[in-house]
Amino acid sequence: MKLYRLIFFFALALAVTACSDDNYSPSDDTTTDDTSTTDDTTDPTDDTTGGGDTTTDPDPVDFTDKLSELPVFDGNLSDLTPRDGVYLYELNSGLFTDYAAKQRLIRLPNGQSMEYAGDDQLPDFPDKTLIATTFYYISYIDSNGVTRNVDYIIPSRSECIVCHFNNAVTTPIGPKLRSLNFNPNNEYVNINQLQYFINEGILTFAPDPASLALLPDWEDDTAYTLEERARAYMDINCAHCHNPDGVVGTFDMDFRYETAFDDSGIYANRGEIEARTLSTLVNYRMPQLGRTVVHEEAVTMLVEYLESLD
Ligand code: HEC
Ligand code: HEC
Repeated sequence: MKLYRLIFFFALALAVTACSDDNYSPSDDTTTDDTSTTDDTTDPTDDTTGGGDTTTDPDPVDFTDKLSELPVFDGNLSDLTPRDGVYLYELNSGLFTDYAAKQRLIRLPNGQSMEYAGDDQLPDFPDKTLIATTFYYISYIDSNGVTRNVDYIIPSRSECIVCHFNNAVTTPIGPKLRSLNFNPNNEYVNINQLQYFINEGILTFAPDPASLALLPDWEDDTAYTLEERARAYMDINCAHCHNPDGVVGTFDMDFRYETAFDDSGIYANRGEIEARTLSTLVNYRMPQLGRTVVHEEAVTMLVEYLESLD
């Protein structure tokens, strides 16, 4: 319970910014109203959920309405350069959001760490942890060689909560340890990401990452089977709603990676899964939030998997 109350506190303070190459300038306020924090969450006296006395925190984040005012970036906002003490993290498989690119950052209050709580779980985050995802748009060339631009529709605040909802509380989704347990080979980290966080002292009580699970990269068809890739994709793109504690927990579908195939409802719903991931109809497509176009590469893989079940 303590964990969830802490997460409730900080998840509301999470911020997503959106910018596009076309209309973005560094002086823009990049945060939408939808994601602004409320008075409740900025009042430290409301937060009595543990993790120590927040008023003596050496480096507390004062959550404000604007990501640009939070201690996240250095220099020009448009460069998205994380400030000292703000860590980039990557997921082995991520959420599809109409081909928008994402930068994921985490900032732990000074001297504190996230604590291991199981590899298929989120770690326990200290109070005043800040996690920010920034969407940015790049033109991309599709499989037919056509240049396409992304036009991502930012979900409303209430829509955020539809996905970021578990067991009746707001919760982060991505940074389960098993999604981080790989070498991201980016400009900051070229060793196992969990090991890097352990070395930096921001992840504690974790066993050797080599002994922990890894959520497959759905795109990697050499390291993983079709089933592993399909299940990983559905875990990160569907399971936040389709699990017993999610918003559609009442359906007989549980798309979490750790759920046994026989309990997942995938077989019984294979036709509908195929039809809905291939659809762009507002009230029919899956997920109905966060995407408007078909994720073609992934759906090709999914359909191959679903049809292999017959
Ligand atoms: C369609 C479901 C969905 C909607 C709607 C959605 N998110 Fe998320 N969000 C996710 C998933 C899944 C992840 C983790 C995967 C990733 O990062 O690619 C995530 C990641 C995040 C993160 C990074 C921390 C974490 O939970 O992993 C933040 C911050 C965030 N979302 C905020 C928001 C905000 C604010 C909104 C509304 C403007 C929103 N999200 C709407 C599904 C959703
Ligand atoms: C934002 C929450 C959310 C996400 C994410 C989501 N779904 Fe759904 N899903 C729903 C809701 C709500 C319904 C029930 C309403 C409806 O049938 O459209 C539903 C219904 C379904 C159904 C129909 C079940 C039936 O018995 O008719 C299927 C199949 C399905 N989802 C598959 C998926 C798949 C596959 C994904 C990921 C690619 C996914 N969903 C992601 C919310 C979500």
